[in-house]
Parts: sequence; structure tokens; C-alpha cells
Amino acid sequence: MRLLLIGDVVGKPGRQIVVRSLPRLKVAEQLDFVVANAENVAGGSGLTPELFHELLAAGVDCVTMGDHIYRRREIFSILERDERIVRPANYPGEAPGRPFAVLRAKSHIQVAVVNLLGRIFMSPVDCPLQAADRVLASLPAGVRVILVDYHAEATSDKQIMGRYLDGRVSAVLGTHTHVATADEQILPHGTAFQCDVGMTGPHESIIGRRIDRVLETTRTFRPTHFEVASGDCRLHGSIVDVDPETGRATAIRRIAIGQADADRLAGL
Ligand SMILES: [Fe+2]
Ligand SMILES: [Fe+2]
Repeated sequence: MRLLLIGDVVGKPGRQIVVRSLPRLKVAEQLDFVVANAENVAGGSGLTPELFHELLAAGVDCVTMGDHIYRRREIFSILERDERIVRPANYPGEAPGRPFAVLRAKSHIQVAVVNLLGRIFMSPVDCPLQAADRVLASLPAGVRVILVDYHAEATSDKQIMGRYLDGRVSAVLGTHTHVATADEQILPHGTAFQCDVGMTGPHESIIGRRIDRVLETTRTFRPTHFEVASGDCRLHGSIVDVDPETGRATAIRRIAIGQADADRLAGL
């Protein structure tokens, strides 16, 4: 079976390229299950119920989040009652949202989705390795296909998680840095791995934000509004092929969909 993780969807440009490209991309690539990291969907920070449903309508099966998960309070009701969204599993048990999701892919195979936060250059959270162990121990028997979105800053942190979970999950794919890394691989025990699948949003930017604003604040310390940029929107993500019998990955491939590809997929 074939899974896609779409990297951090940023603001309206990110949403638009997902909505325009994903329906036909699913057909063209024969995707069984699509996960999108949606922590930056609402104006660049957080997610709202309306935008959550817009992503689902475009063909996203499950949404993962990250450090910006609670920026928009409107999402709390969705986090508490909808099974198609997960919060970082290493947040406290009392935090709104579910630590994992088990959903059915198009092919009716069960897929578990897990979101974890890193601890290097990020706010303090519980140990992501122990949280991963807890989630794996509580998954229903028979769930073999497991996708972990490791939302972390440092490549070292991500490699640690990849090696820790190698052979126990189908994929450990990174998000959060908004820059795709060229290290996609199948680890020795069958886990697909990549430090970061990249950003879905405006690439004429500094990780999705207006270049002039970020530069001004960096140079002068004068606060500015880090508005979402608009130029050169691209969809970045990675496709993983998994043997549903064993849960092991057999292939991983990066995808980058630019404006011309998006136009083609939208049938323009
Ligand atoms: Fe992000
Ligand atoms: Fe993040």
C-alpha cells in the first residue's frame, strides 16, 4: 500500500495547492492514505475546524500537528471528538486531543498515525522515545502499518527517533523545519526514514513567511507581523510504499509539486 505525508501546510497558498493538486495526485500516484501536517494552516499558525474540513474534502485522511497546535482555540472541539487528527503524543495526558489515530485506508487496511515533538531548540515536553513506546504498546492488535510524523528541529534528534523505531513502525518522517532533506532511505529493519519532508507553501520566503518582515525584525529587533508569503508555492511531501502484511516499508520517494505541476493536476 502507498502512503503520502504532506509537509507543513502553510497558510492560504499551502491550502490552495493541496486543494488543487491532491484529488488527481491521489489517482495518479495510487495513494491509499494521505496524512498532512496542518500546524501552520490558519494564517501560518494553528488550524480551525473549517480549514480542517477543507483539507479532508481535498483528500487528506488524517491530520498531524506540532508546536503550533493550540494557537487557534477553535480547533479544541475537533481535537476532542474527531478521530482524523492527532496531537503530539508526548504532551501531557490532559492536553486536548488524541495521542494516536487508527484509521482505515482506501484498501481497508488499518493505519496508525502518531505525532511526536522533538526536544532540541523546542519547548520542554516529555521524552518522545518513551511516548512512542507507550503508543506502540496501546495500539490495537493487528495494526501493522504505522506512520510517525516526528515534528522536530534537529536532524540528530530525528535520526535518533528513526533508529529507535526502526523495525517497529513503517515510517518515521520529519516535519517542522519546512525544508526537505535529501536523506530518504529504508533503515536496516524496514522503517522508511527522512529527516524532513519539507514545506507545502510559498518558497519565496523564509520558511513560509515574508522575507522583508523576518529580515527587519532580525536586524532591528523591532516586532513585525510575520505574514505568510505568497510566491513560488510548492507542495512537498514523501510517498512511502508499505507491505501491509509486515508493516515494513519497501520504498520511499520525495515529491515536489510546483505551480506548473499543480496547474496540470487541476486540469488547467
Ligand atoms: Fe511548521
Ligand atoms: Fe512546528
